[in-house]
Amino acid sequence: TPVTDTTAVKAPTLPDAQTVTEVKHYTDRLFSFRVTRPASLRFRSGEFVMLGLMGEPDPETGKQKPLLRAYSIASPSWDDELEFYSIKVPDGPLTSRLQHIEPGDQIILRPKPVGTLVHDALLPGKRLWLFATGTGIAPFASLLRDPQTYEDYDEVILTHTCREVGELDYGRDLIEGIRNDEMLAELIGAGFHEKLRYYPTTTREDSAKTGRITDLMRKGEVFEDLGVEPLTPETDRAMVCGNLAFNLELKDMLEEYGLREGANSEPKEYVVEKAFVD
Ligand code: A2P
Repeated sequence: TPVTDTTAVKAPTLPDAQTVTEVKHYTDRLFSFRVTRPASLRFRSGEFVMLGLMGEPDPETGKQKPLLRAYSIASPSWDDELEFYSIKVPDGPLTSRLQHIEPGDQIILRPKPVGTLVHDALLPGKRLWLFATGTGIAPFASLLRDPQTYEDYDEVILTHTCREVGELDYGRDLIEGIRNDEMLAELIGAGFHEKLRYYPTTTREDSAKTGRITDLMRKGEVFEDLGVEPLTPETDRAMVCGNLAFNLELKDMLEEYGLREGANSEPKEYVVEKAFVD
């Protein structure tokens, strides 16, 4: 008869605990981290999970509750580990503490991925636009490393608007990593035929392209720079992830181009999700 040896099973110190394997600080406001992946976790590129730390003890009862926030998974589904990209809010309940994690530390991760920034929520198209501000690039970091993205579309355009040049580093490293990855490089091609286009802009510091992506689209500058026609529902699909004002403004613009908002249950031409804020 098999006997369950309970002494061999070490109770995790946290519920749904995962171990931090790597932390990278980009600016004093931004960092990324990687954690172990629960063996059972399956997710679709672009989805998010709830993650966080155990909260401070309640001053009266002494009880501790998990302090969790929605975080887009930035790594592709074929990766052994999970990657996340986060803002650091000095007085944010979670990120003021999360920014200090180090390899070997444990975090809490609920293994229930959900979200609308998924291929399933879009009808087939020719060109995929990924519009991000700040940490809103995270779900696209997953999608851009997913082979299906290049199998489904002829062209994939990532726009990323940040306040300062240093905030573009994560995206620049991501694109460079994709172009240097053997499997992905094969799929995206090279030179004139490359499927992947990257369009970074800054708003509060000068860079190669200054201005909000929304303004640059209204002026037609984005389309001129990329040599593509403005969006149409026949060929273009879009995913939007950034701060609330940006999401609302871009949503209006996409509707004006004739695109309609899709969902998992009813795929259409564009989808929107709010980037994590503390
Ligand atoms: P701006 O500097 O002009 O506000 P944040 O860090 O506040 O989330 O902003 C990230 C980026 O998103 C910033 O470059 C910011 O530009 C830009 N942004 C904020 N609101 C909008 C909007 N409504 N449309 C386009 N871009 C926006």
